[in-house]
Amino acid sequence: MTKADIGVTGLAVMGSNLARNLARHGYRVALHNRTTARTQRLVEEHGDEGAFVPTVSTREFVDALARPRRVIVMVKAGEPTDAVVEELAAVMEPGDMIVDGGNAQFEDTRRREAALRERGVHFVGMGVSGGEEGALHGPSIMPGGSAEAYAALGPLLEAIAAEVDGVPCCTHIGPDGAGHFVKMVHNGIEYADMQLIAESYDLLRQAAGLSPAELADVFRDWNTGELESYLIEITAEVLGHVDPATGRPFVDVVVDRAEQKGTGRWTVQNALELGVPVTGIAEAVFARSLSGHAGQRAAARDLPGPRIAQGDPSLVEDVRKALYASKIVAYAQGFDQIAAASELYGWNIDRAAVATIWRGGCIIRARFLNRIREAYDTDPALPSLLLDPTLAKVFTEAQRSWRRVVATAAETGVPTPGFSSALAYYDALRRERLPAALVQGLRDFFGAHTYERVDRGGAFHTDWSGDRAEHSA
Ligand code: 6PG
Repeated sequence: MTKADIGVTGLAVMGSNLARNLARHGYRVALHNRTTARTQRLVEEHGDEGAFVPTVSTREFVDALARPRRVIVMVKAGEPTDAVVEELAAVMEPGDMIVDGGNAQFEDTRRREAALRERGVHFVGMGVSGGEEGALHGPSIMPGGSAEAYAALGPLLEAIAAEVDGVPCCTHIGPDGAGHFVKMVHNGIEYADMQLIAESYDLLRQAAGLSPAELADVFRDWNTGELESYLIEITAEVLGHVDPATGRPFVDVVVDRAEQKGTGRWTVQNALELGVPVTGIAEAVFARSLSGHAGQRAAARDLPGPRIAQGDPSLVEDVRKALYASKIVAYAQGFDQIAAASELYGWNIDRAAVATIWRGGCIIRARFLNRIREAYDTDPALPSLLLDPTLAKVFTEAQRSWRRVVATAAETGVPTPGFSSALAYYDALRRERLPAALVQGLRDFFGAHTYERVDRGGAFHTDWSGDRAEHSA
């Protein structure tokens, strides 16, 4: 029997859809799932879409594959992934490839890659974005692992990825955990982007008095300009939706507690380790946490606040500009984190290539990623996206509105941690001198932690409790 080009194990929705996408592109796909009923159902329901080879055991699955074998694992991150990878590796041979398409921790991917490399098996941590629809019709794909593995996998992955202007939304990100790292940051940016959108909605509803239906139109309109993106597009859909059971705006019948599976939190945890200020992502993660503190929120309801004077529609344009400026900050911070990790782990990640494959297929796909791509194409070593001349121009146009929005939010008591922290980051970066000098002085005062001087080299300590003479440390 003809051997399969590739195998997929783990046939929940994402796995099934990736398998179907591969089959629809003419690849012969071996199928495996712990419970065989799922495999059978996939073949029964979609067997006519291409060539599937259903298998029952891991041994049969591996034997069904042409060598070197290519297997995509689509199971839960963590222990389930370890278990499946170990089972596969036990029957695979040197040169074979195991691809983990789940949302794995990049550190786990590094560990798995190193362990399998010892046994001659390639392990590829592959970020996949775009949800169920993306997996079926064209996701954005972020594979890590060796260049050798990519040479064998790339053509298949590029065939099933989304395409923008004829360019596939898939590229080899870099070795070992680079792919999963970039997917993690993608999700962090996704959190920040959604938080900014949510703040825009809240502010315009509370301080400008617009209804969800009116706001759906506002977002629809914004989606025709520089903010054009998948998330803005679906915001219009969600805001425009009316709950069939009650006739109320859908957004008003949903419990206001934002859940998270954890990739945003990982992004922030890692940024803390790297020392990269991803304030937009951090605020978004904390805003979700805060929304879940029901008891505290209920107890705090009567704390004093301003009366919200409603009805200033001129705020709409200000918020649009503030959203764009804040969004650039969030993306700039995410790309900084990618650069820092790339440097630390020697991944050599091409940020223009990352922007390119995020233009389509993924959740944060947006027109503005073209600008980011151009920025890094023009200057691959750009110290911050905020400094790209084209993007910097946005701040010239937006900064007055941005400040007005943050001031209005503070005056009306509408929480906008995303907008406020983005503006604070922007202003901090612009400053010639920061109050960090005072922090250093305080650290030296209470802990003799020393400081550097602006006028000569070396480390110094002032004898704060004695004669206040300065000594070289
Ligand atoms: C994607 C999404 C996907 C998933 C998020 C949701 O890129 O397709 O990011 O990975 O929907 O993990 O994350 P939270 O549940 O943490 O919001």
